[in-house]
Amino acid sequence: MKKVVDPASLSYISWSHLESDECGALNEFLGVAPKAEPVHGQIGVMLSVGDFFDRAVRGLGDNEVLDLGQKKLRFLITPHVPHAWDAILVFEETTGTLFCSDLFTVFGKPQPVTESDIIEQSMSALKDLPGYLPVGPHTGAVFDRLVALEPKVLAGHHSSAYNGNAVQALQDLRGELFRFAGLAVEEVVQGSDEEPSKAEPYG
Ligand SMILES: [Fe+2]
Ligand SMILES: [Fe+2]
Repeated sequence: MKKVVDPASLSYISWSHLESDECGALNEFLGVAPKAEPVHGQIGVMLSVGDFFDRAVRGLGDNEVLDLGQKKLRFLITPHVPHAWDAILVFEETTGTLFCSDLFTVFGKPQPVTESDIIEQSMSALKDLPGYLPVGPHTGAVFDRLVALEPKVLAGHHSSAYNGNAVQALQDLRGELFRFAGLAVEEVVQGSDEEPSKAEPYG
């Protein structure tokens, strides 16, 4: 981390959801980042983070923008996407970078940045991780929001930063997730009141 930026210079630190690989070392990190204010969504603050961390956490509302000066972080409160009730995603508006946490997870050590297809590898990993990304009507609504932002880069937590057609990749991942879950994509995404019909199981 110090090779990239001096932690002591940080003003803020944030993460998607309460999980070891997201924020498990936050207290140690705060020890070397004395000026950093932890920032999370209001749900996360209400639920638990105050009990876990040594420094007060600021809770931002849905769509609230944290102005960093040159960069602007829009906080999206996205319960259960990628997973966990407290989940948030963050969109950096000046570069169009969507910090998408566990979406597009792959195994191994992917390249830092890629334009190559990321869906096939992601779905291959997901088939080995049952229940990793819960899928339901809430999922479609969040993906609609993400697509509407028209991101240019998808910066995942366990994947390459994808700078190909990010909107198409989001649409493709949504479709694959619904197929994998055995749900009809169109009915759920469009918010139909009817019971979703079963599709053929993925693969
Ligand atoms: Fe996670
Ligand atoms: Fe993760």
